[in-house]
Amino acid sequence: MTKATALPNDLAAYWMPFTANRAFKKSPRLVVGAKDMHYFTADGRKLLDGAAGMWCANAGHNRDPIVAAIQAQAARLDYAPAFQFGHPPAFELASRIADLAPADLNHVFFTNSGSEAVDTALKIALAYFNVRGEAGRTRLIGRERGYHGVGFGGISVGGIVNNRRFFGTMLTGVDHLPTTYDREHQAFTKGEPEWGAHLADELERIVGLHGAGTIAAVIVEPMAGSTGVLATPKGYLQRLRAICDKHGILLILDEVITGFGRLGFAFAAERYGIVPDMITFAKGVTNGAVPMGGVLVREPIHDAFMTGPEHAIELFHGYTYSAHPLACAAGLATLNLYRDEDLFARARKLEPVWADAIMSLKGLPNVLDIRTVGLTAGIDLAAKPDGVGKRGMAALDEAFHKRDTMIRAVGDTLALTPPLIISEAEIDDLAGRVATVIRAVA
Ligand SMILES: Cc1ncc(COP(=O)(O)O)c(C=O)c1O
Repeated sequence: MTKATALPNDLAAYWMPFTANRAFKKSPRLVVGAKDMHYFTADGRKLLDGAAGMWCANAGHNRDPIVAAIQAQAARLDYAPAFQFGHPPAFELASRIADLAPADLNHVFFTNSGSEAVDTALKIALAYFNVRGEAGRTRLIGRERGYHGVGFGGISVGGIVNNRRFFGTMLTGVDHLPTTYDREHQAFTKGEPEWGAHLADELERIVGLHGAGTIAAVIVEPMAGSTGVLATPKGYLQRLRAICDKHGILLILDEVITGFGRLGFAFAAERYGIVPDMITFAKGVTNGAVPMGGVLVREPIHDAFMTGPEHAIELFHGYTYSAHPLACAAGLATLNLYRDEDLFARARKLEPVWADAIMSLKGLPNVLDIRTVGLTAGIDLAAKPDGVGKRGMAALDEAFHKRDTMIRAVGDTLALTPPLIISEAEIDDLAGRVATVIRAVA
């Protein structure tokens, strides 16, 4: 690892996202390098990464082939206009991603983030019904405790109160399914809970209220990551698919976290044996190395746009940096690594080992629930009497500053989601460190 870069002497200018800025700047958590399973700090500490950065470095950090591909691409073609021009890696990456997706999810619209992917998918759904002559289908359905990024579309269908309540009216005509999490019926579940498939039937209630002809799409995560690793109950997604089919509603799976191996498959749609109409992805597509997101679209939806005059733009949507050359290069090198190291199958194989290791934390002080699915885990801790979120933040700090470990905390829930290259010994090590952290914040 190269010598640490100089530390900044002024932290004021940078307004950090989703961060308690004042607390951070009093006690900064800075990293200056990374390799494989570890981050490095300026003072030479080596942190075990239990979070794959932010659910994105699935192949581990700073992998040589990805670094080399980005460097070579930057030297060859730094930028190509995204509208009206193309460059070969964009087409190659789209084909490679489509090859990984189930059934006829054959077309890819590139964005630069998960938020943009979500807003793009929602817009494609609305435009699709427009071009089909069903412009009355405008309603969008999300789910409580869903996270779909921070665009106005994403926060509207999302179900996190603090992400919504400061931002006005958002999109109109949005409804929400109930969350699938219920501790009373699901506590300490490994994998998909037995209880809760019936909650998909709430879509029938919403259809009954508004009429199917007003609803364009339903968007859900196969596993709600940002609100604490909430796996969908057994049979839930299949039921949702069936209800959508019955009423001609599009089903969008937000796989920004679950895509690229997190649940043991290229996409979680495969794990659950369903074919959504669209899949949103980001994060793991480039191993987090260059920002990129996108939407996988089924053949008939794509084809519905390809009917007008050939000289005309079919979809009035796109970004300056859609399919950016550096992101495409990183994406292709990343997909090669996933394939060559068989990382999706590796995650599948490690899942029981992971689940046992993390579930062993049951019984530690303040642990109210533990959930695991794929190579992810959520650990709910009891809030401190003096404030919700304080124990979670204390755990994050303790892990970073004293236990050389990177974890995520959402409120008082600890989220673990390591790179898929984690070894069995490192799984035990991580579980042990988290146990120490939980005891330290008791
Ligand atoms: C399911 C899901 N959708 C969308 C997003 C937003 O992605 P981004 O932060 O790249 O905009 C996230 C981010 O964590 C996510 O988990």
